Amino acid sequence: MDEYWMQHALDLALRGRCGASPNPMVGAVVLDPDGLVVGEGYHARCGGPHAEVHALAQAGGRALGGTILVTLEPCAHHGRTPPCVDVIIGAGIRRVVVAVKDPNPIASGGVERLRAEGIEVTEGVRSESGRILNRRWLRWVQDHRPWVTAKAAISLDGRIATRTGDSQWITGEASRSRGLELREEHDAILVGVGTVLADNPRLTRRLGLNPGDDVRRVILDSRLRTPNDAVVVQSDPEQTIVVHTSAAAREDRERLDAAGVERVELPADERDRVEIGSLLDYLGDLGIAALLVEGGAEIHGSFFDADAVDEIFFFVAPMIIGGEATVAVSGVGVATLEMARRYHFEEVHHHDDDLELHCVRPEDADVHGSD
Ligand SMILES: NC(=O)c1ccc[n+]([C@@H]2O[C@H](COP(=O)([O-])OP(=O)(O)OC[C@H]3O[C@@H](n4cnc5c(N)ncnc54)[C@H](OP(=O)(O)O)[C@@H]3O)[C@@H](O)[C@H]2O)c1
Repeated sequence: MDEYWMQHALDLALRGRCGASPNPMVGAVVLDPDGLVVGEGYHARCGGPHAEVHALAQAGGRALGGTILVTLEPCAHHGRTPPCVDVIIGAGIRRVVVAVKDPNPIASGGVERLRAEGIEVTEGVRSESGRILNRRWLRWVQDHRPWVTAKAAISLDGRIATRTGDSQWITGEASRSRGLELREEHDAILVGVGTVLADNPRLTRRLGLNPGDDVRRVILDSRLRTPNDAVVVQSDPEQTIVVHTSAAAREDRERLDAAGVERVELPADERDRVEIGSLLDYLGDLGIAALLVEGGAEIHGSFFDADAVDEIFFFVAPMIIGGEATVAVSGVGVATLEMARRYHFEEVHHHDDDLELHCVRPEDADVHGSD
C-alpha cells in the first residue's frame, strides 16, 4: 500500500509543475489509523505552504495516530515557511513514508528529527520516480547551476528560419501553445541578441498556469547590441537581464542602465562571447533552477558545444525549407559521430500536423516510466 499511496502523492506533486520552482515539486497523502485517506496536498507555489501542511490541514484531528506519505523528506528548517517536521509531530502522526531524501543541506535532517521523536520512518518508497520528478531541481541543488532545456520550432530539414530570416511560424498553433506551457514551468527564458534583433520577441508567460512571479528574461549580448526600443527592454525591464562581456562600450552600458534592465558583465569564451559556464553559475546563484533556452542557432550551438543541455523539446513541422537557411544548432559541433552527445527520446507527441520530440540525457531518463 505504501507504493500505491506514494504514487498518488507523486501524481499530486506534479500539479505543482508550473509554480513550485525554484522549490521542488512535492505531494503528500495522510491516512488515518484505519488506512483511509483523510488529507491530500501538494506544493503549488514557491513561498506558499508545503504539501505536508496542506494535507495535514485537510486531515485535521483525523491525522492522529495515522501515516503521512511524502515524496520528499519533510524539511527541518525555518525557511519561507516553518519546518514541516514540527507540523507532522504536532499533528500526532505515528508513521512517515518518504520517497527521496532532501539533498539540500539547509533543509535536510527531517528524517532524523522525526525518528528522534519516536515516529516510525520508512524511506526510499518509489525513490526513482521521486528523483525523476524533481530532476530539474536536483540539478540546481546539487550542481548550483540551472537545469537547461533547449526548445526550438524546426522544419523537417532541421531549420529554424528561412534564408531571409523568416521564422514565424514554422509550427502550428497547438505546438506553439505547448511551447508556451514550457515557459510556465521554467524560471527564466534565454535568447541571443540575434533573435532579439530578428524577431523582437516578448518572452513572457501568457497561459496563466504559473501563480508565481513573472518569468525572468535573459539576453546574451556580448557587445550590447540590444536596442532600447526592443520589447524586452520596453516592457517590464526589471525582469530582463542583459549579459555582456568586457567588449561592451560604456555608452551602451549607460544606455541600457537608463532603460532599467539588469545588466551583467561576465567572462568571454574563446570566441569573445559570453562564456556559458560562468553564465550558468551566475544564474544558479540568482535562484534560477530551470532555464529555458529558446535559441537561436548560435545560442543553441554554444549550449550544446558546452555540453550544457539537459533536456530538449524540438517541435517539428512537416515542411522543407532548404538552401542557406538557419539550422537549429550551429556553433562548432563535433568532428566525429562518436563524439556526439546522445540523448534519450522520452516522449513523442502529435500536435495537429507537428511532432513534439522530447529528449533528456540518458542518465536522467525516466526509463521505467516513473517506476
Ligand atoms: N524557430 C525557432 O524556434 C527560432 C527560435 C529563436 C530564433 N529563431 C531564428 O533564429 C535566428 C537568430 O539566430 P542567430 O543564430 O542568428 O542568433 P541568436 O542565436 O539568437 O544570437 C546569437 C548572438 O548572440 C550573441 N551571443 C552572446 N554570447 C553568445 C554565446 N555564448 N554563444 C552564441 N551567441 C552568443 C552573439 O552576438 P554578439 O557576439 O554580438 O554578442 C551572437 O551573434 C532568427 O532568424 C530567428 O528568427 C528561430
